[in-house]
Amino acid sequence: MEGKKVLVAVAWPYANGDLHVGHLAGAYLPADIFARYHRLAGNDVLMVSGSDSHGTPITVSAEREDVTPREIFERYHARFLETQQAIGISYDLFTHTDTLNHRRVAQDVFLRLLDKGLLYTERQRQFYSETLDRFLPDRYVEGVCPYCGYGEARGDQCDNCGRLLDALELGNPRCKIDGSTPVIRETEHFFLDLGKLESEVLAYLEAGKEHWRPNVLRFSTNYVKGGLRGRPITRDIDWGIPVPLEGYDHKCLYVWFEAVIGYLSASIEWSHLKAAPDAWKAWWYAPEALTYYFIGKDNIPFHTIIWPAELIGVERLYEDAGTFNLPYDVPANEFMNIQGAQASKSRRWAVWIPDLLSRYDPDAVRFYLASVMPETRDTDFSWEDFVERNNNELVGVWGNLANRVLSFTAKRFGEVPQPVNLDDVDRGLLDRAAAAFDRVGEYLATAQFRAALAEAFDLARETNRYLEIKAPWHEIKTNREAAGTSLYVALQSINALKVLLAPFLPFTSEKLHHLLGFEEPLFGEQFITEVTEDARPHDVLRYDGSPATGKWAFETLAAGRPLAQPEPLFVKLDPTVAAEEASRLGA
Ligand code: MF3
Ligand code: ZN
Repeated sequence: MEGKKVLVAVAWPYANGDLHVGHLAGAYLPADIFARYHRLAGNDVLMVSGSDSHGTPITVSAEREDVTPREIFERYHARFLETQQAIGISYDLFTHTDTLNHRRVAQDVFLRLLDKGLLYTERQRQFYSETLDRFLPDRYVEGVCPYCGYGEARGDQCDNCGRLLDALELGNPRCKIDGSTPVIRETEHFFLDLGKLESEVLAYLEAGKEHWRPNVLRFSTNYVKGGLRGRPITRDIDWGIPVPLEGYDHKCLYVWFEAVIGYLSASIEWSHLKAAPDAWKAWWYAPEALTYYFIGKDNIPFHTIIWPAELIGVERLYEDAGTFNLPYDVPANEFMNIQGAQASKSRRWAVWIPDLLSRYDPDAVRFYLASVMPETRDTDFSWEDFVERNNNELVGVWGNLANRVLSFTAKRFGEVPQPVNLDDVDRGLLDRAAAAFDRVGEYLATAQFRAALAEAFDLARETNRYLEIKAPWHEIKTNREAAGTSLYVALQSINALKVLLAPFLPFTSEKLHHLLGFEEPLFGEQFITEVTEDARPHDVLRYDGSPATGKWAFETLAAGRPLAQPEPLFVKLDPTVAAEEASRLGA
């Protein structure tokens, strides 16, 4: 059976700082769990993202360090590749927006929209700094949000209420570079005529969206019902994708206009790297393909309104093309606070992934972040909780179960024992393990990751209870056959849990898979590769997912299969590390 086409589109991190737990818990980890599940379930996943390399977030950082924007982007892009590989975010392609391919596709979208009469130019009033003698892009201006009164709203968006803003709407505007009060000057820009697309965007949001998270849908429809106005999609800035027309020097495409196009251009780039240049079309044109966008809540309007508007607007981009699939689901996550306070880069109140990985195993980090993933409300990263859940749940419930059963069986039987006369308790556990695939799978397919993890852990707890009842360690003294049967049954459940937990814990599940004697891996490999595309070299992260299909099913571990002494899968943490780690925050 052909698998379903599943596009896993993941928010593109700005290449101006290291990745932190907010990025991971908000978008990349749920996306990866989802992608791994679908691959195991035999579906054809295309998971793409990349470094968001343009725009004022990068230039602001460059100015602060007195280096070029390119230097900032290249530094963090390289780090993103390593960090994401180390934590196991299995992108089919993680590229960036400074490729010539992306530039071409973004400019094609711009020109096509222009052609279709969906762009217009207008002289716009824009903040200008007289002290710096330049226009100030929206992000360079901060002030009071006109909607919620938040005092540190950025000119492009309010981080408090999520509204997209026009910098001129800010109360008490001040320049982020030198704190001075900007003046207003006129400049000409291209605008995306969202008013013309409003009814189609609304129709899209109102048709068959029952599967959307209620807050995402409510926010988006209210937004559109409030009326869509034209939005400027060019900026007075040199770092970015040039406006592809004569007479627009020193103007680039607005980073948000072009970054979302990255989902499409990265899919095209992936196809070229696979030497199958048309492959991407199966995810973008075939109406039965499912397209998911994993993002944080601050990105909602760009993915549920602006990007659909761009796709509806271009209608068809290339000659042979069909119409584009609009996002099927946008399961945006909420925020993750750190030790009870809002994360903040400037106050260094954040937990950085490269730092975390220098002291903890990737699956321990993934487990904790999945356990407290902010799916429906803001959650808190707490070091005490990290240590407790690691010790009590990951090690206490799952790690010990696998370790105890495998080492005892290896020692006393050296192989998977032969079962004799299964009783109701045995059959009860086997049925439960088999049924878990549908239950956990249903949660995963609907982006309910915490529920999926909890369901899998229920099976692990149930298996621990089973072992308490059967107590094969005592049984073996009087009845070796009965003990062998209990261990056989427990091993079947552990073998099932290995797969059920694999989307969450890919590294240790793979290890356990090998311990159980399987040769073909659960997952493919990821690798960093240098791409020379149109004479512009860049490194990208790629995934070879070929052996990953069809393993999301209960599979019997045959009796007689040899078993070796296992190594523990997880490490117990000393409770004192919680205080130690907490004291690093803000330092
Ligand atoms: N770079 C943006 C952010 O970190 C997210 C961009 S998502 C994209 O908020 F799709 F637009 F690229
Ligand atoms: Zn606000």
